[in-house]
Amino acid sequence: MLADRVDKIATFRVMAVMDRAKALQAEGRHILHMEVGEPDFATIQPIIDAGIASLQRQQTGYTQALGIPELRQAIANYYKSDYGLEISPARIVVTPGASGALLLMSALLVNQGQTLMMVDPSYPCNQQFLRIVEGAAQFVPVGSEQRYQLNGELIGKHWQANTVGVLVASPANPTGEVLSKLQLQDIAAAVKARNGVLIADEIYQGLVYGERCHSALEVDAEAFVINSFSKYFGMTGWRIGWMVAPDWALPGLEKLAQNLFISSPVTAQHAALAAFAPESRALLDQRRDAFAARRNVLLAGLKELDFDIAHEPMGAYYIYADIQRFIDRGRWRNSEDFCFDILERFGVALTPGTDFSPTEGGHFVRFAYTLPEAGLRDALQRLASAIAE
Ligand SMILES: Cc1ncc(COP(=O)(O)O)c(C=O)c1O
Repeated sequence: MLADRVDKIATFRVMAVMDRAKALQAEGRHILHMEVGEPDFATIQPIIDAGIASLQRQQTGYTQALGIPELRQAIANYYKSDYGLEISPARIVVTPGASGALLLMSALLVNQGQTLMMVDPSYPCNQQFLRIVEGAAQFVPVGSEQRYQLNGELIGKHWQANTVGVLVASPANPTGEVLSKLQLQDIAAAVKARNGVLIADEIYQGLVYGERCHSALEVDAEAFVINSFSKYFGMTGWRIGWMVAPDWALPGLEKLAQNLFISSPVTAQHAALAAFAPESRALLDQRRDAFAARRNVLLAGLKELDFDIAHEPMGAYYIYADIQRFIDRGRWRNSEDFCFDILERFGVALTPGTDFSPTEGGHFVRFAYTLPEAGLRDALQRLASAIAE
């Protein structure tokens, strides 16, 4: 009865880890959750208050398919204040999370049998959105030498007749790697030279711990940029995100958005408006600073335990570590064995790299620093015991 595509869509391995972690917790075990890519902080109060106020005004209906005008304007203002870019609010498409934007973008750009190029390792859902529109992801394996990102040379080498464009992420999941302006320029030039489209997932921008992040829009005014209120803005469960699209794409996007979603959640849209107020930004920046401190604790601790982290990630809240040296010692067979064993016996929940990379994921593990510093120190001690055995 099921359509063929369902069999081709893999389950998220992280969900299996999370389910087992929750089952152990229900048995009374103390579990440290470092598996799911979600801030452990609740949404900040000004955003919650704006959502409640909107409900009390009885704003409970559908909105315009592309989003309420005030929110599209507020997002355009954000590009001006944070990136110095003039973006017309008409080019902002409000979506049900970045997930909604990724689905719209796939439906808009990809015909049956066509592909978008992206790195292996990547955010696992990207390839599934493409499968749903009968297209495919075209993976380019990269390692720490390429800082887990594409570059102009790789794009040239791997471009095929059915390649529509390139999907990059900065900062990236699972690696936390950020693209510099120079890298973005190199990528944009390679894509343009082949008449392709550049799509940038910038959902983790705002969560960077070094120099400020550059948007693909700074180097390519025609790029599709996907972003979200989930991560820096801390609104995962509200399901609200956005895309900046070139003018030529807007009528098509509007048609697709009308049919697929009718509109994005109305309460979330009104709540998200409060995210840009200066007092909200100050609170969100404090949280980013907390993530920065956690990153330092976890990075130093993992290196001390001999995890192989060739290049320090500068964004998101992930560390992607190579565990080949532990596998070579014979204690664990692969990353899934490692993650399930560490969960069962030491109560630390981690994500195996197999979610992100079919080729190399068997010897990588993703750590999410979505725990307070004390929890991270506890996790490091437990890992130390596991490795010392
Ligand atoms: C790289 C990346 N893109 C998109 C998403 C989807 O985010 P959302 O739909 O919550 O905005 C995620 C979620 O973890 C992600 O890591």
